[in-house]
Parts: sequence; structure tokens; C-alpha cells
Amino acid sequence: MCVPERVLTNDDLAAILETSDEWIKARTGIKERRIADEGETAAVLGVRAARRALEITDILPHQVDLIVVATSTPENIFPSTASMIQHWLGASKAGAFDLSAACSGFVYGLDMAAQAIKSGSIDTAIVIGTETMSRVMNWQDRSTCILFGDGAGAVVLQAGERKAGVLSTVLRSDGSGFDLLGIPALGSPEIRSKDGLHERRLHKMYMSGGEVFKFATRVIKSSVLESLHKSHVKLSDVKLIVPHQANKRIIQAAARSLNMDEDRFVTNLERYGNTSAASIPIALVEALEEGRVNDGDYIVLIGFGGGLTWASSVIRWVIPHPEGRVVNRYREQRRRAGYALVSLRTRWKRWLKALQRLNPFARFRPEDFDDPDEFDDYYDVS
Ligand code: UT7
Repeated sequence: MCVPERVLTNDDLAAILETSDEWIKARTGIKERRIADEGETAAVLGVRAARRALEITDILPHQVDLIVVATSTPENIFPSTASMIQHWLGASKAGAFDLSAACSGFVYGLDMAAQAIKSGSIDTAIVIGTETMSRVMNWQDRSTCILFGDGAGAVVLQAGERKAGVLSTVLRSDGSGFDLLGIPALGSPEIRSKDGLHERRLHKMYMSGGEVFKFATRVIKSSVLESLHKSHVKLSDVKLIVPHQANKRIIQAAARSLNMDEDRFVTNLERYGNTSAASIPIALVEALEEGRVNDGDYIVLIGFGGGLTWASSVIRWVIPHPEGRVVNRYREQRRRAGYALVSLRTRWKRWLKALQRLNPFARFRPEDFDDPDEFDDYYDVS
């Protein structure tokens, strides 16, 4: 996982908006969120999370066959954020694509990757949820901007002998609620102001919070039970539920409706807010790091959000190195050398371009055109 260092507290928000720490904590459970710096885009946060996942699983980038990125805040319509991450990882044999299913995107992506592995078409995949929600907030809309934050989480999936990994998934959509939350993009027919507050602005998020709240509390229970039924796993055998981190009250309502103790639900929204497609993988990675998941445990992921979409997965978790981390030093060095090589190649291209500019006989003047290499100066892939 990777979250930006910059912290925005509720008090910081109260200084610029008509809100308060008490209101935000009581209505959402959120205390603070992380905000990306200028050079930290969805691809930058995503590649950092992916490198960490490869390190923990001790897999080399060239072993990766597929990179799926769930995001609502990509840098471009195309090329995909996934392709940028593929390049920076040096995953030279991987296909890469972005997936749009809002806050359910990570669970959707996990299912796509798991199915590709099960079919035998690929062996190893990385699924990433990454967002820079702070860039699409309407910072005047206090009912929405207080909720979201930035971050990324990644997992590696690999074919194996044990009956483990993604056991079942339930994917759903109800497009009749398409106008309850969203981020209008270029293809939007008309950007109209509905009312002063929930103005529909290009590349800015709008949400009817109350409606989405009701939808979320309605679908969680049935979706979790359906995915458990499909995998023949009993609710009592589930070690942890990792829900999308939208609102503490939604998670409490889910625990009540499933008749489960709240401490079996992973929550970290008090520190990161709602990071959309990144919230489930970030919460999952933190649960792993805290030792809350053991080898062979059943866990359930449940996502819900724009579309409307919702999705739940039952997973039997297999820890790559249950007896402790046994990362091969040689492979670790190879990964690092690969990343250094990508960065060197980028610099080399930049020097060549600079040299070309000095050549008075050059037929074309590169500075007359958009210079794609300059993008590399912007992104902070450290
Ligand atoms: O990731 C996608 C999924 N997203 C979600 O699941 C979000 C779901 N929705 C929510 O979490 C909640 O609906 C919100 C947190 C967005 C809003 O909480 P609420 O308890 O539903 O509040 P509300 O919208 O009913 O507003 C109650 C009052 C209103 O004032 P009046 O009309 O009663 O005078 C709002 O204007 O609270 C006011 N209010 C605020 N007050 C202080 C709304 N936002 C704020 C604020 N600070 N930030």
C-alpha cells in the first residue's frame, strides 16, 4: 500500500469550510485523510503500492502477466494508468488495463484477474486500487469533500496448488442510480448546474450522500451472504470482513444486519477517509500487516459505490511466507536494478531530446510539438 504523507485533519477542513471535527467524526467516523502532492498521481501511488506487493511476494516484474488498475481518477482517458505502472515496474510481459467501477472497482478487478488465472490463460497478476480523490473534489461542497482521501493498495495473485485465493464473487450493478454519484468526463452530454451545492462540473465529483447511504446499507448484507453461499463458506467461519471505507455508520449497520461483532470488520477510515477503489486493498494490507489474517483464513471483501455498483468476494488467504519473510536477496536486487534501469532509460531519452534541440540542422524542432518525455519530469516515482 501507499498513502501520501500530507495529512488533512478535520480541523484543517473546518478552517476553510462551515464544518467541524465533531460533526465529521460523529457522522462519518473520519478524523483525517491523506492528500497527494503535485507529482503524486494515481499511477505514482499505484506503482509504489505494486512495488511493495512484489517485494512482499518476492515476485519479479517480468513474471507478471496482467496488471489491472481500478481507479476513478486516472491521469488520462488513455493511455491507462495501468500502462504507466507497467512501464515503471518494468513488467515487460504484462498486459495492462484500467477498470471503471468506482468504489467497487478493486473487487471487480480481483475477480477479472482471478478468473483469468483459473482459466489458465495467465499465471500471475497484480490488482491495484489507486485514487487521487482530492483532485476531483468540489472543495465548496462540505457534504462530500470531507469524506474523501488519496492512496493506493495492491495485491499479487498467482496460480497455485492449494484451494485458495478468490473462491467466489458476486458482481452487481444498478445503473438506474447512475446520477447519485459521479465525476462527469469529456463524453458527458451537458454539464449543468442542478443546484448551487450539487453542481455537475467537469472532472468534479457530485454525490447525493443520503441516497447512497441508504443504497449501501441495503446491499451489503445480501451481497455478503450470496458470495458466502456460492463458495459454501459459513459466515461463522469468516475471520474478517473488509468493507469499502465510506462511513463508520454504514459499517456498523452492516455488522448489525449480519449479527456480527464490529471488531470482525476492518476499519481504518478514521485515518484515511474514503479512498474509493483504494480503500479495500489499503484496509486489507493493514489487516495483514497487523497480523489479523493467518494462513488459510477466510475473509470477505465488500465494495459499493458509483454506477451504482456493488461487489463482494470470499477469499481464502494464503500467506506467501507463513514462517516469516524469506525474500531472496538476489531477486530483491534484480527488482531494484530493473526499476533503476527504467529510470535511467527515461533520463537517457530526455538527454537525447535535449541534444536534438541543440542540433541546428534538425529537420523538426521537437519543442514545436508536445514533448511526452517531459511528463516524466512531473511524476514522482521515488
Ligand atoms: O464511496 C461511495 C459511497 N459513498 C457513501 O457511501 C457515502 C454515503 N453517505 C454518507 O456517508 C452520508 O450521507 C454523509 C456523510 C455524506 C452525510 O451524512 P448525513 O448524516 O446523511 O447528513 P445529511 O446529508 O442528512 O445532512 C444533515 C445536516 C444538513 O443540515 P440541515 O439540512 O439538517 O440543516 C447538512 O447541511 O448536516 C449538514 N451537513 C454538514 N454539517 C457540517 C452536511 N455536511 C456537513 C458538514 N459539516 N461537513
